[in-house]
Amino acid sequence: MKKITVHAPGTVANLVCGFDILGLALQDPCDVMTLERTDTPGLTIRHLDDHGLPETPEKNVAGVSLLSLMAALDEPIGLHMTIEKKIKPGSGIGSSAASAAGSVAAANALLGNPFSKDQLVQFAMNGEKLATGVKHADNIAPCLMGGVTLIRSIHPLDIVSITPPPLYVTLVHPQIEVRTADARQILKKQILLKDAIKQWGNIAGLVAGLMKQDYELISRSLEDVLIEPIRSILIPEFSKVKQRSLAAGALGGGISGSGPSIFMLSKDEATAKAIESEMAAIFTGTGIPFSTYVTTINNQGVIIHELS
Ligand code: HSE
Repeated sequence: MKKITVHAPGTVANLVCGFDILGLALQDPCDVMTLERTDTPGLTIRHLDDHGLPETPEKNVAGVSLLSLMAALDEPIGLHMTIEKKIKPGSGIGSSAASAAGSVAAANALLGNPFSKDQLVQFAMNGEKLATGVKHADNIAPCLMGGVTLIRSIHPLDIVSITPPPLYVTLVHPQIEVRTADARQILKKQILLKDAIKQWGNIAGLVAGLMKQDYELISRSLEDVLIEPIRSILIPEFSKVKQRSLAAGALGGGISGSGPSIFMLSKDEATAKAIESEMAAIFTGTGIPFSTYVTTINNQGVIIHELS
C-alpha cells in the first residue's frame, strides 16, 4: 500500500464535568488527510487549507506526531502528508487532536497496523503537547476510537470506550481567540473538597447515564462546578446561550474543550436545530462572526477512506 486518505473527526473534550478525562467524537466537521510513502526517508507536509499552519514537521502537530511514530519503527521510511483542515484551529473542537490522531492512524494503516491504539494515543499526545503545552488525551482518544472515551489515566494509559445512546450535538463557534494554554493557566490549582465531591458525583452520573442510556441522568450530570465558572468569563454570551438552549430542550452542555465553542446535547434533531437557531440569534446580535453545527456522535473514530 502506497497511499491512504483518512477523515479525522472533531471532538468535544471535557463533556462539561470531566475536565481532561472525557470526550466524544463528532460526525462533522472532519479534517481530510492523505499520507503516501516516498522513496526519500523523512517527512514532508503540505497544507491544502489557508489557516497558515507551519509545514515544517517539527513545528506541525501532525508532523510531531508522525515523527514520534517514525522513531518507533525499526528502519527509516519516507512519508508525505497533505492536510486539509476543516476543523478551525483554536475552535475548541479538537482541531489539533484531529491532526495528531488522524496522522498517526493514517500511518498505522499505511504500514499494515504495527501499532496498538494505545501506542497511537502516545504518539499523538506528543503532537497535542506542541499545540497546547500539555499532554492530554481527551480529544485524541475519542478522535481515534469514536464514541465517548473516558481517560481513566494517562500515566499509565488507561482508556475506557463508552458507547453512548443516540445524541445530537449542536455547536456554536464564536470566532474569537481563546488559546488552550491560556485557558488552562487561569484555572485554580487547588479546589475545595465539597466542590470535588459534586464534580465526581457528576462525572460518575454522566458515565452511568451514558451507559444506561438514561437521558435524565445525563442531563442532571452535565454540571461543572470547577472549570466552567472560571473559563466561561472568556466566552461572550455563554450564560445566555446556555439558558436559551436549555429552554429550547437541550439535555445540557457547556464549553467545548477549552472553548470558545459551546456545545449542547439533545435527544432529537428538531431540538438540536431549535438550539442552533437560538445560538445563531444570540451571536447575530453581537456582530461576532460565528459558525454553527448540528451533528451526531461518530462511533467509528478516524475513518480510513481510500487505499491504493
Ligand atoms: N481538556 C482540555 C482542556 C481540552 O480543557 O484544557 C483542550 O482541548
